[in-house]
Amino acid sequence: MAGRCPMSSRRGFLAALGSAAAAAGAGPQVRAAIPDNSAKAERGITPPSQGEGHGRALIEPFAGDHQGGIATALQSHTYMLAFDLTTKSVEDVVRLMKLWTLAAARMTAGETAAPLDTDRSAPAADSGDALGLAPARLTVTFGFGPGLFMSAEQDRYGLAAYRPEALVDLPPFTGDQLQEARTGGDLSVQACADDPQVAFHAARQLARLAQGIAQIRWAQTGFAANFAAEETPRNLMGFKDGTQNPIARKPLEKTAETGVRSNPGSLEDVVWVAEEGPDWMQGGSYMVVRRIRIALEHWDATPVDFQEETIGRHKDSGAPIGGTSEFDPLDLDATDADGNPLIAEHAHVRMAAAASNDGAEMLRRSYSYNDGVSFTAERWPPWRQGMMYDAGLLFMCYQRDPRTSFIKIFGPMSQFDMLNQYATHVGGGLFACPGGVRPGEFIGQKLFEAALGTTAVAAVEAKPLAPHAAGDKTRY
Ligand code: HEM
Repeated sequence: MAGRCPMSSRRGFLAALGSAAAAAGAGPQVRAAIPDNSAKAERGITPPSQGEGHGRALIEPFAGDHQGGIATALQSHTYMLAFDLTTKSVEDVVRLMKLWTLAAARMTAGETAAPLDTDRSAPAADSGDALGLAPARLTVTFGFGPGLFMSAEQDRYGLAAYRPEALVDLPPFTGDQLQEARTGGDLSVQACADDPQVAFHAARQLARLAQGIAQIRWAQTGFAANFAAEETPRNLMGFKDGTQNPIARKPLEKTAETGVRSNPGSLEDVVWVAEEGPDWMQGGSYMVVRRIRIALEHWDATPVDFQEETIGRHKDSGAPIGGTSEFDPLDLDATDADGNPLIAEHAHVRMAAAASNDGAEMLRRSYSYNDGVSFTAERWPPWRQGMMYDAGLLFMCYQRDPRTSFIKIFGPMSQFDMLNQYATHVGGGLFACPGGVRPGEFIGQKLFEAALGTTAVAAVEAKPLAPHAAGDKTRY
């Protein structure tokens, strides 16, 4: 269970400002600050915050078998960044991973990105906008896009041979309107927290550390409705979103006997890469992110009956059509008095359900987004044009293999889902999120050690390239 660590809070850190000792010995301090969460990770999705200050004082552990922010109970805000690598040197990529690990471990514990220096004539090692703020269950999740391994047919870092087969280039889907400036990326960083400023602070410090090595390609904020933690949040369409998801339990023993997986599957079944993946991906997961714009004006003009038919669930309760409560089983064979299916043939949940997709599943962990308004031409009747909400779903899902999860499910969905009348995919990407780190390790370490050797990797100093980036005095 997540706990409070007052000594490592940003407030505590403020008190330590001016102490030369704080600036000197970053390495051991940081390692001590990385708690071991492997026992917690075993239990899967972490329990929601129950602590002081509406849960903002709670710390999500950074180290463990899995990265935080995947099976972690949804925080209220996210800040997602995708980067293009600009460096030619693989050592710089290693340097960045070391710097990012160090800074993320500190920030999730409520500390500044790097120890603050007393020298006020130089840029500070942390922008300071989270000073005095609680950790707010911050998690930082890192991902590697296909471009880390191969870019414009160039093996620029000598990593091409290490690209996992599952890290495919996402195929084009029917109806895609992907904008280049919102799509792809060589690296991804997702900060999630129960305080939007804490999430942005973390993403911003990490982007600072990347100066000279990688540059921001696209960014997206997101938020989740602040329902009681045990309730499923509603998306901007007003429907509960996240009801049917893999759950945090071990696969049932029966599964092996019968050969039939229970539905929903466990995180081990669906989310965490196991022996099928390379060493560095074990305990990791593949993240598909899609920025899906929703035609809210069109949706709001739709009768609730048709909204429910489109989704295949009741709006108020979240129950499958014909059911009474949210977690009633989804009976795709149920019919009305006339013999018509209760859940329409192309309803979203029918198209997405494991039963319609040879058992394929994924863990969905989406956020809503709201970026004001922009000029839009709708692609479905009534083909309105004008200033419309640029708002929708920052769809995020995790799986052991996107070829047999997202790609398999979304292929037919992109053609026939009734929801397509309201939803347009305008950006996103696929990222391999490596397994978690143990204290003293850095993110993706096993990948780089396999490619470069342990000695070469150990020799890379965790020193930012840009003199004004954070953490000048930091040694990993
Ligand atoms: C604007 C876009 C989308 C919206 C508003 C949306 C909304 C919903 C809602 C309200 C549900 C029912 C409640 C639940 O089980 O969580 C649902 C279920 C689901 N959605 Fe979506 N969704 C969207 C896009 C997608 C996409 C792109 C996929 C990926 C293939 C997807 C996969 C699923 C899955 C797997 C389920 C569970 C189906 C089941 O087994 O019952 N959704 N979605």
